[in-house]
Parts: sequence; structure tokens; C-alpha cells
Amino acid sequence: MEERIKRNEFLKSLGLKGAALLAVYCGASACQADAGVTPASNVDFSLDISSLAVGKYVVNSQVVVARVSSTSYVAVSQVCPHENLLALTFNGTNFYCGQHGASFTTSGSALSVTSKSLTVYKTALTGTSLRVYS
Ligand code: FES
Repeated sequence: MEERIKRNEFLKSLGLKGAALLAVYCGASACQADAGVTPASNVDFSLDISSLAVGKYVVNSQVVVARVSSTSYVAVSQVCPHENLLALTFNGTNFYCGQHGASFTTSGSALSVTSKSLTVYKTALTGTSLRVYS
């Protein structure tokens, strides 16, 4: 979890943004942008989110977990509903797909490129442990 945040910040410090940033991730075989991915329907895991700063996100089990404020977290499927690609991230304000530029509110509603909403999962915070479940 911590490694992804640091790598992302490092790449941004190099001036890489959007598609260029995603291309770097994909080059390391971390990208799984295969067509036809279906959002998971049976999600249930917990994360230690004590080091997750506001505006940052982590990906676990194809779920993007974002800290959207000091007290709230949002968990959505990493599958972008535009073409069902596993490519969703969080840009600090909205969920974003680097494949074709679709963006979504923190409640999962589409803002651009597609009219389809994200699959949003439930969250429950206990101390520094965030449970994400469907
Ligand atoms: S697959 Fe995400 S914008 Fe097209």
C-alpha cells in the first residue's frame, strides 16, 4: 500500500501526468487494462489506512480506496464502466480513468466520456482499520 503512494508521488515529481503516468505503470506490467473485466460483486477486506493522506488512494483486490476527506473514505471498483477496463484511479478530487479520460464523482456518478456509474462498495472505519465490503 505505502509503496504505490510513494511511487506515484515520485513519478508526479518527474512531471508525468495522466496518460504518461499510466503508461509508466503499464510498462511495469502492473497495468491490467484488459477489456471485459467485471466489477467484483463479493468484496470483503480490511485495510490499515493510518498512512493514507487526504486525496490519496490505494488499490486492493481491484478496488480503489480513496481518502476523500479527513473523516471519509470511498471504495469503488477499479473497473472503468466505459469499456470495462481495469484502469481507474483517484486524482485527489474525482475518480479518473486514464484510458479515455472518463471522470466520476466520489459518489460514483459519471462526469465525462460515459454515462455509466462506478460500482461503489460500502466502508466501515474502526480505529485505523477500514473494512470494504459489498
Ligand atoms: S475505459 Fe475508462 S475512459 Fe474508456
